[in-house]
Amino acid sequence: MVFARWYNRSLNKVWGFVEDRTGMRKWALRPQPQFTFKPSYWTGAFVVNAFLYQVVSGALLLLYYQPSTNTTLTACGQVVGTQSTAPAAWCSTYYIIHSVPMGQLLLTTHLYGAYAMIFLMFVHFFRGYYLGVYKAPREFSWMVGTLLLLMTMGMGFTGYLLPYTQISYNATNVGLVLALRLPTFGPLIGPFILADGTSQGLLSRMFDAHVLLIPLALAALLYAHIALFESHGIAPPASSDPLQRRRFTEKEDEDGVPFMPHIFYYMTKWGLLYVGVLFGIAALWPWQLPTYVGNTAAAATVTEPDWYFLWLFKFVDFQGVTPVYAVGLTTALIVYVLFLPFLDRSKRTHPRDRPLFIFIGTFLLEFFVLMTVWGGETPGVAITPMTVAETIGPLAVVTGAVIALFHWRYRVSYRRRLAARASPLSATYPVPAARAAPGAVATAEAKASE
Ligand code: HEM
Repeated sequence: MVFARWYNRSLNKVWGFVEDRTGMRKWALRPQPQFTFKPSYWTGAFVVNAFLYQVVSGALLLLYYQPSTNTTLTACGQVVGTQSTAPAAWCSTYYIIHSVPMGQLLLTTHLYGAYAMIFLMFVHFFRGYYLGVYKAPREFSWMVGTLLLLMTMGMGFTGYLLPYTQISYNATNVGLVLALRLPTFGPLIGPFILADGTSQGLLSRMFDAHVLLIPLALAALLYAHIALFESHGIAPPASSDPLQRRRFTEKEDEDGVPFMPHIFYYMTKWGLLYVGVLFGIAALWPWQLPTYVGNTAAAATVTEPDWYFLWLFKFVDFQGVTPVYAVGLTTALIVYVLFLPFLDRSKRTHPRDRPLFIFIGTFLLEFFVLMTVWGGETPGVAITPMTVAETIGPLAVVTGAVIALFHWRYRVSYRRRLAARASPLSATYPVPAARAAPGAVATAEAKASE
C-alpha cells in the first residue's frame, strides 16, 4: 500500500517533468472511457506490444545472422567444431545459440514471441468477431485488421526458413506450392519469392521479406489501423439495441481517462509482464536447433510447419484434397473474413442476435483447433473421407444445435425482460413486446441491452 502510493507519486512526478518539457499530452492518443480499463478492451494493444518485442529481438539477432546457403565457409566448421558442410545460415544460428552470451535466450524469446503474437492476434480477432466490433462505422478497421493478420502470418512463414533446417526447408516448399497457387496474389509474389530459382535466391528473398518488406507493410497498416481507431473511439460493449451509438467524438471522450500517462502506464505494466513471462518460458524450455538442410547423415525428417499452419497441412492430408482445394479453402476464408462487415448486415452486435455468424465463427475456431491438434499428432498421415465425415460432421451438428438452443433461450428471456421494462406491472404477467407502445419498446430495448 505504502509502496503503491510512493510508486504512483514518483510516476506522476516523472510524467509531470516530461509533459512540462514536451507537451506530449497533445500528441498522445485520445482519452478513453473508464469502462475500458480491462485487458479485454486492449487485446490489440497486446499484439502491438508483442510486435515491438519482435522488432527489438529481431534487430539483435540480425547482428549475428547470415542469410547465406554457402556451405564452404571455414568459419562454419570452426563454429560447429567439425569439418562441417552446413550452410552459413544454419551455422550462424548455431553460433547464436552456443557462442553468443544469452543468445539461446534471445533466439528462443524471438521464436516464442512470434507464437505469442500470432496467438494474441487470434484472441483479438475472435473477440472482435464475437462482439461484432466490425459493424458500422468500424468496417475499414476490420478490413485493415485482416490485412494485418495476413502480414503477421507472412512474417511467421518467411521467418521459419531462416535457420535453414531441413524441417523448415521442406515445410516452406510445401507452403510455397500452396501460396503460389493463390489467385492473383500467387502469380504476383511468385517471381519475387523464387528469384533466380536457386536456394540462395529463395533464402535471400525470404530474408528480405522477413526483415524489411513485411515489417514495413505491417507498420504502415498498423498506423492506418490505429488512426481509424482514433477517429471512431473505442467500440462500446456489444448490445442488442439496433440504435446503440457506436461512434464517439474526441470532445465526448475528453471526460475519459487521458492516454498519457494513465493508459500508457497501464499498458506498460502489461507489456513488462509479457516480456517477463516470455523470458521465463524461454529459460525453462529453450529452443533446440534441428539438423541443417542437406545433412545426408541425419535420419529423414518429417515435413512439419509451425503450429499456426498445421491446420492447412493436415487439410492436404485428406484423401482427394489436392493443393487446389487447399488454396480454394484459404481464399474463401480470407474473402469471408475481409468482407464480413458487409455480410453481417444486422445493426445488433450482441452474440445472441447473430446466431448464423456465431455458428460460422465457432465452427471455424473448432475446425482450426481440431486440425492443428490432428496435424501435430499425425503429420503427413492420409485421412480417409469416412474419418473426415465422422469427425467433422458431428462437430458441425452439435455446434449448430447448441448455438440454436442458446439463441432461442436468450430471445425468450430477452423479450420477457423488454416487456417487463416497458410495463412494470407486466413483470408478473408478461406482455409480448410487439403489443407494448412503440416508444416504450425502443427505450426499454436500449435499457435492456445495457
Ligand atoms: C498485427 C495485428 C494487429 C494489431 C497489432 C492490432 C492492433 C489494434 C489496436 C492497438 C487496436 C485498438 C484497441 C485495442 O487495443 O484492442 C485495435 C482495434 C481494432 N482491431 Fe486490431 N490489430 C491487429 C489485428 C486485427 C485483426 C486481425 C482484426 C480483424 C480482422 C482487427 C480488427 C480491429 C478492430 C475492428 C478494432 C476496433 C476495436 C474497438 O474499437 O474496440 N485487428 N487493433
